[in-house]
Amino acid sequence: MNISEIFENRRSVRRFDDTPVDEETLRQILKIGLTSPTGNNLKTVDFILIQDKKTIVELSQIRKIGTKLLKTAGAAILVIADSSKSNLWIEDASIAMAYMHLASDAMGLGSCWVQMRTREDVNGNDLEKVLQEKFNIPENMKPLAILAIGNIENHPKKITERSVDWQKVHEEMY
Ligand SMILES: Cc1cc2nc3c(=O)[nH]c(=O)nc-3n(C[C@H](O)[C@H](O)[C@H](O)COP(=O)(O)O)c2cc1C
Repeated sequence: MNISEIFENRRSVRRFDDTPVDEETLRQILKIGLTSPTGNNLKTVDFILIQDKKTIVELSQIRKIGTKLLKTAGAAILVIADSSKSNLWIEDASIAMAYMHLASDAMGLGSCWVQMRTREDVNGNDLEKVLQEKFNIPENMKPLAILAIGNIENHPKKITERSVDWQKVHEEMY
C-alpha cells in the first residue's frame, strides 16, 4: 500500500475476533507512538499496554456509551501525557493516538479511539481520576484516550471520494 492507500483504508473498527494481538506487531505500533512528534520535543506521552482480558472487559464497561467495543479487543493502549511538562500535552497525546490508530490499520489490525478525557464513568465520576487510581498513574500524567486494537475478519469499507468535503477547504480566506 502506498501512503494515500493507507490513509484511504483507515477506519474505526468496533468488532474484533477476541483473540490476542501479535506481540511483535504491538511493539511496532508502540514504537510509532513513542516516536511521534511532541511540542518542543518534550516527549510528554506514556503508554499503558493492557492485554489482560479481565481488565479489557472492565474498561469496556467503564462508560455508559462508547466503550463497549473494547470487549472483543485483543489489546488496549491507554495514552497518558504529562500536563506538568507542557501545555501541549493534549496535542502530543492526540498525535500519538492518531499515528498508532493509522499504523494498526496499515498492519492489518482493527482499532478505534475510545475517549477518556472529559468523560465520566458509569457512576458519574471523572474518568481522569478513576483511571489514575485504577492504573496507579501519578496526578500529573493525564489520561487522554484508549486505543482498542484487535484482529479482524472484515475491514470496514475504505473512505471514498464521495465522503471528501472539499467545501471545508477555504482558499486564502474563510
Ligand atoms: C477525539 C475522538 C474521540 C473518539 N471517541 C470515540 C469513542 O469514545 N468511542 C467510539 O466508539 N469511537 C470514538 N471515536 C471514533 C469516531 O467515532 C470515528 O473516528 C468517526 O465516527 C469516523 O469514523 P472513521 O474513523 O471510521 O472514519 C473517536 C474519534 C476521535 C477522533
